[in-house]
Amino acid sequence: MEKMKLGFIGAGFIAKFQALALRLVRGVELGGVYAIKGAEELSAYSKANGLGDCKVYPSVAELTKNVDAVAVFAPNFARIDIVGAIADAVKAGANLKGVICEKPLGRTVAEAKELVRIAKGAQLRTAYFENQIHMKAIRSALAQLGPQQKAMGPLTLARSAEEHAGPHEGWFWDPTRQGGGVLSDMGCHSIAVSWFVLNPLGKPANYLKPVAVNAEVALLKWGQPTYRKQLLDRMGVDYTKTPAEDFATGMVTFENPETRQRVKAQFTNSWMYDKQGLRLFMDGLGPGYAFEVNTLKSPLEVFIGDAAAEAVADAETALEKATASRGLLTVQPNEADLYGYVDEMEDACEAFRAGRDAFLNWEYGLEITKLCQAGYLSAEQKKTIDLTDPAVQKELDGYTSLIAQGKAAEQLHVIA
Ligand SMILES: NC(=O)c1ccc[n+]([C@@H]2O[C@H](COP(=O)([O-])OP(=O)(O)OC[C@H]3O[C@@H](n4cnc5c(N)ncnc54)[C@H](O)[C@@H]3O)[C@@H](O)[C@H]2O)c1
Repeated sequence: MEKMKLGFIGAGFIAKFQALALRLVRGVELGGVYAIKGAEELSAYSKANGLGDCKVYPSVAELTKNVDAVAVFAPNFARIDIVGAIADAVKAGANLKGVICEKPLGRTVAEAKELVRIAKGAQLRTAYFENQIHMKAIRSALAQLGPQQKAMGPLTLARSAEEHAGPHEGWFWDPTRQGGGVLSDMGCHSIAVSWFVLNPLGKPANYLKPVAVNAEVALLKWGQPTYRKQLLDRMGVDYTKTPAEDFATGMVTFENPETRQRVKAQFTNSWMYDKQGLRLFMDGLGPGYAFEVNTLKSPLEVFIGDAAAEAVADAETALEKATASRGLLTVQPNEADLYGYVDEMEDACEAFRAGRDAFLNWEYGLEITKLCQAGYLSAEQKKTIDLTDPAVQKELDGYTSLIAQGKAAEQLHVIA
């Protein structure tokens, strides 16, 4: 079988993580990269690790012409321009099997709809990358509990959290470029994975119908003067003027279209989780059965005492977003596999090879964007958002949150 040539747009944090994952995916090679920064480094990594003869291209169009599929691993604010350039290249003759886009699909519902429209116009097969749905731990939990689900009925409550101490680049912190704060950035993961596990076994990812969203957002740590100054110095964003939430929590209610049974997905996300590093937590409760996933539980722990701490070069080799380099540390030896990057890549490549969309396509990504934006609307209006009301759907189509507009100092109670 000839290997599928994949091209990366963007060569930052997620592109590097996905390159690590590619070492475990068969039938694919990294054929090229286009990025404003980091392309040469990614190309060298690819060649050194046998991932493919990754060429550095000078534009999205040139990359698109020379590979079989492209993955958009660039920041949220660059999506529309990049996907527009991919579509133009395809219309000009590039023979592309499919296009991958990282979460969140859009910063607003209108933006996500525009991306779906552009992809459709160019007849592109799509993959929306939501890694947590592909996590082996989540898939194994559902497989293991399949007989219980059949006998007792599907899960009725799912609780998901993704938390760490804050993103690595300034644009994530800037709500006008990113699309919001932690709800937009990580709420999308937690809402999606809960929706997935709540769906009755074997049903599509959008089977349960979202009927209501209720959420609260807050700025708990990074709005305080000391930490605001750190953000300004380190990331170049001023939370006195344009703050974003560092904590979000809420509930999405879903309804089974056949039985009309209602189920709940509770999400919690924060950028002020000052513990070992990134933690993904999910649990699911069905009648008479349950599961729990916590990525901070590893079979491997190391201890580094104060006297030996000087020798530590990079705490992040232990764990994504690690915040400590001494004491008792959790180490995850294969994070790319643990978080589902390997399985989502395999799924997308297999689907594109077969001429279809991935398990999660951009229409699905649009639904997740809508649920996150409904969360912002709920927090702003301090009420539950009724997604079954056509007037609410229309409101969401034209909605940009106050936070994303950079006008949320009052909403987030920033003290001057
Ligand atoms: N699934 C996950 O767990 C996960 C984790 C991190 C990031 N992400 C998503 O991946 C995307 C990228 O995030 P990141 O952390 O890699 O960001 P990053 O800032 O670390 O890297 C961005 C890369 O894109 C390049 N870039 C910027 N503007 C560009 C443009 N107009 N054209 C081409 N390249 C451009 C930069 O030079 C850089 O190489 C975001 O949408 C983010 O939400 C997902």
